[in-house]
Amino acid sequence: MSGFQRYIHTPASPLPEHHQTFLARGEDIIPFLEAPEFRLTNPWSLFFRSVLTQLRDESAFSGKQMHELGVGDGRNIFHMGDELKNPAGIDAHMPMLQLAAENLAHLKFPVDLYFGDAVAFVKQPGEAWDGYVAICLPQTPPQETSENKLVGTFRSENPHLEPYAEWKTSGLQLVAATLGELVKRAKHDLRVLLLLSGRVPTAERETMIHSTGWAIRRVLATNESDIAQQSAYVSLAYTQVYADSSEHLFWERTATGVLAPIDPIEAEKRRLAAYNSSTNEHPNVYHHLYVYLLEPKGRTQALVLN
Ligand SMILES: C[S@@+](CC[C@H](N)C(=O)[O-])C[C@H]1O[C@@H](n2cnc3c(N)ncnc32)[C@H](O)[C@@H]1O
Repeated sequence: MSGFQRYIHTPASPLPEHHQTFLARGEDIIPFLEAPEFRLTNPWSLFFRSVLTQLRDESAFSGKQMHELGVGDGRNIFHMGDELKNPAGIDAHMPMLQLAAENLAHLKFPVDLYFGDAVAFVKQPGEAWDGYVAICLPQTPPQETSENKLVGTFRSENPHLEPYAEWKTSGLQLVAATLGELVKRAKHDLRVLLLLSGRVPTAERETMIHSTGWAIRRVLATNESDIAQQSAYVSLAYTQVYADSSEHLFWERTATGVLAPIDPIEAEKRRLAAYNSSTNEHPNVYHHLYVYLLEPKGRTQALVLN
C-alpha cells in the first residue's frame, strides 16, 4: 500500500480480533476495542498517552486540528479531549481502522479516517496543515521476527521511502520520510509530537529530525519506572552498529530493581534467547522512549525577519 483512500465505516460489518475493555474519559467510562497487536498496557502506548494527557491538561490541543499518522485503534485521539478541531487519522492496517472507527464513534465530534500510507497521505496536494500531528510509527528495519509486520516494522518496498534511504539501517526511514514530506505542507505554527525509541543514539535521532526540516522545542523522556521493556519478537540486530557508541542504549533490571547498562550485542543475545524460549517472557532488556515536540525549522525566525 503506497497510496491512501478515505475509510468508510459500515457499523454492521464483522469486527476484527480485539479485546473489549473500558477507558475513562473524565467522569465517563466508555467501552473501548483494543488492538491485540498493541495492548493499552504496552509501555510505548502508556508513555505516549501520558504525554498527550499532560499536554491536554495544559490545554495545548484546544481548538487545534489534529492529524494522527498511524492512528491504530484510535486511543490517542480518544484521549486528547473533546476540544480538537477536525481530527483525522490514517493507518495502513485495515483492522486497526475498523477498531478506530468503532472507538471514535463514542466521541462528541466526527473523526475522518483514511486507509493507507502515512507518507502518501502527507504528500497529497491540498491546504497546508496547522495544529498538531501525532506520530508513533514503526521504527525498525524490515525483519523476519516481528510479531506483526505492519506494527513492528515498515514496508521497504514503499516508493515514498526511497529518498530517505540513508535512514534505513537505523530503522528511522519511515519516520524520516513522513517528517521530510510533512515539513513541505506545514504552516509555521504546526507542531509535531513524535515518539521515538532510544534504541538508536540521540545524535542519530536528532540528526534525522534536523535534516528533515524540523527543530526540537521540547523533549519528554521515560524514567526508571516507565522505561520500555523490549519485546522478544522485534530483533535488535540492527542496533549492533552502535556497539561502540559512548551512549548507553540498553539497560537491564538488576536483582535490586535498579537499571544497569548493557551493550547492544548483549541486548540482542537476550532478546533472541527469550524469542527461542517457550516461557513467553520478555527479555531483561529495556530502552528509553522520547516524545519530541517539533516545529518547522527556521520558520519563526524567517517570519520575524520578514
Ligand atoms: C505502534 S502502532 C501505534 C498506533 C497509535 N499511533 C498509538 O500510539 O496507539 C503503529 C501504527 O502504525 C501503522 N502503520 C505502519 N506503517 C504505516 C504506514 N506506512 N502508514 C500509516 N500507518 C502505518 C500500524 O498499522 C500501526 O497501527
